[in-house]
Amino acid sequence: MSRLRFPGLIDAHVHLRDPGATHKEDWSSGTAAALAGGFTCVLAMPNTQPPLTDNTSLQTTLATAAANAHCDYGVYAGGTELNAAAVAALAPHTAGLKLYLNETYGQLRIEDLGALHAHMQAWPATRPLLCHAEGHNVPAAILLAMLAKRSVHICHVSRAAEIAVIRAAKARGLAVTCEVTPHHLLLTQADAAALSPGRAEVRPALNNAADQAALWEAVQSGVVDCIATDHAPHLPAEKDGPQPPPGFPGLETALALLLSAPTPRRLSQAQLVALLHTNPARIFGLPAQPDTWVEVDPQQKWEVRGADFLSRSKWSPFEGWQLTGRVHSVCLRGQLAFADGQLLAKPGSGRLAALPPV
Ligand code: NCD
Ligand code: ZN
Ligand code: ZN
Ligand code: ZN
Repeated sequence: MSRLRFPGLIDAHVHLRDPGATHKEDWSSGTAAALAGGFTCVLAMPNTQPPLTDNTSLQTTLATAAANAHCDYGVYAGGTELNAAAVAALAPHTAGLKLYLNETYGQLRIEDLGALHAHMQAWPATRPLLCHAEGHNVPAAILLAMLAKRSVHICHVSRAAEIAVIRAAKARGLAVTCEVTPHHLLLTQADAAALSPGRAEVRPALNNAADQAALWEAVQSGVVDCIATDHAPHLPAEKDGPQPPPGFPGLETALALLLSAPTPRRLSQAQLVALLHTNPARIFGLPAQPDTWVEVDPQQKWEVRGADFLSRSKWSPFEGWQLTGRVHSVCLRGQLAFADGQLLAKPGSGRLAALPPV
């Protein structure tokens, strides 16, 4: 069976839960899951416990990552209502600044417009600034970025109206980029009904078929720059409990789900490379990973079983889905890191991605 070769995939949106909730995921388990899914570089979100919002938390995370990561990585700093001036000093060591404009998992939501404006002005224009922005917050983020003469990246866009605003902003020449997730491309509220309410919880929420169609159209027409998993690991017991946290694990299913999408939604290999490698590398200024590649068995059939994940989050909203196409092997900087279902990379073999100067 002939294999497809991809460059190492880049996931610009993953949650490792280290420090604070390593029973959900840690730097070792999350980066092992990344390799199993074909990702050789992950960018980790700051909504840990404590969150990554200052130099102390940055140094803790970088030390943990250096000792434990199986794939290459970068980390984001998180904006708070009070740290706009101070957090900007972390820019050289981080892949970008993350601002949470809407309610979601963690304590990093910024409600104050002044704080949001201050972050947009203070964060270096040469480093990415990412927003969890839904609804009216999409145009708010885009306008504030424009006023600050900087770019903005909108995370996990999920609705037709948001895509329409991003498309219009791009047509105006504004420096806006965006990502969508496999789950917003492949699941709607109708699918949520088949999951329990807790398991269907995710931010942004699953939407309707019209939103889903708009996302696919935007992917096909190039309005969407990246596909990112928003790998948000929580335990099945937590998802089934009284206060289910939002989020789905996604690292180990993303590529196979996209390869398995029925026509006309199936993306070409060239489109997948652009969405999962070339565009994120460009937006985040990531260095080339020499001798790094992923080989996929395009005909291999398998069933999604969360229990088999390397992630500690051993469940999936795609449980039981029959997929065609699976990662066979991953080579990271000349070393075979994953092959035939086996993790080969040692903890600590992942490296901090060297970022361009600020
Ligand atoms: C994310 C998490 O669990 O950290 N949850 C989610 O539903 N997407 C937070 C986020 O990305 O908004
Ligand atoms: Zn989010
Ligand atoms: Zn997220
Ligand atoms: Zn083999």
